[in-house]
Amino acid sequence: MIQLSIQNLTKRYKTGDGVSGINIDVGKGELVTLLGPSGCGKTTVLRSIGGFLEPDSGDILIEGKSVLKLPPEKRPTAMVFQGYNLWPHMNVYNNLAFGLKIRKKSKSEIDEAIRRVLDLVRLPGSEKKYPGQLSGGQQQRIAVARAFLLEPAVLLLDEPFSALDAKLRHEMREELRDIQASTGLTMVFVTHDQEEALSISDRIIVMNAGNIEQMATPQEIYDHPKTLFVAQFIGKMNFIQGKAEGSHVHVKQLRYANTEQLQGDVTVAVRPEDIAISKPDEGMRATIHQIMILGHYAEVSLETECGNLKAFLPRDSVKDMYPGQFVGITFSKVLTYKSA
Ligand SMILES: Nc1ncnc2c1ncn2[C@@H]1O[C@H](COP(=O)(O)OP(=O)(O)OP(=O)(O)O)[C@@H](O)[C@H]1O
Ligand SMILES: [Mg+2]
Repeated sequence: MIQLSIQNLTKRYKTGDGVSGINIDVGKGELVTLLGPSGCGKTTVLRSIGGFLEPDSGDILIEGKSVLKLPPEKRPTAMVFQGYNLWPHMNVYNNLAFGLKIRKKSKSEIDEAIRRVLDLVRLPGSEKKYPGQLSGGQQQRIAVARAFLLEPAVLLLDEPFSALDAKLRHEMREELRDIQASTGLTMVFVTHDQEEALSISDRIIVMNAGNIEQMATPQEIYDHPKTLFVAQFIGKMNFIQGKAEGSHVHVKQLRYANTEQLQGDVTVAVRPEDIAISKPDEGMRATIHQIMILGHYAEVSLETECGNLKAFLPRDSVKDMYPGQFVGITFSKVLTYKSA
């Protein structure tokens, strides 16, 4: 069932920046991430859904009804802003209770809900503190708690974990996934961190310069980036110049099927984990430059006639390798794009 439908949304600021022709359907209980570099339009889309920006054209439907005419507080959405704006003159309790009081909940209901949500964001007992007495990451978590309490039909989160340290960030992602699984909350989550997007999303929408480049599951985006932009943006990737001719793409002496039916100069993209190392007379010649053990795998940098490449190999398999060694390399999987 479609919970949120964004139809042909266009919003241009006076400067000419903004977004255009955005079409997104979000299913009930789905967590969809808007991912892209700074300035690509993520916040613009999110604010339009929440009612904080008026689109130039297009429509936004929640549970089948257009919400365009509704002010933010009348929409069935709750938004956590980039830079979490808590009310500085109110303590945590009152920041959280505000929305519930408007809904005429009883004091005991409110107290209980606040206690539960503070446990959830790991800040139990912080009711009496003022935002100025909390760190950036703690304020961010209170802002997330405040949005949860409103039990919206669609929860909008604009980089909600950006001020958290790596460990807490990781934990909060897991929490968010758990909350989503147990409540079936529909969420639109904004981040410019591709790793974060890959780890929490049901679907990722990759944006670039106000447009959608690709919309797919994390797995699909990782395995089949549709454009060179997506290939550059998601995960680690090696890029090599190649030539397409007829049914083949050539990279030096290596040959691959021309699945995209390209012609002329092409960019061949290879994931580090798709590079295999063999004997010097097999595949493309390479020299091992450096071997770095990174936990359960090793990152091997290679000098080749196509430039420097990075390979990820199981730690065990690099035991007998050494810098300066001549090897051959092959690619178990390649992606090909028309060169930019
Ligand atoms: N009020 C505004 N007036 C004019 N231009 C704006 C305004 N708000 C945003 N922009 C421009 O619109 C574009 C999209 O901005 P937006 O805030 O949506 O980007 P974003 O993807 O959220 O970026 P970030 O990751 O930095 O938060 C940018 O080029 C930005 O400079
Ligand atoms: Mg933004």
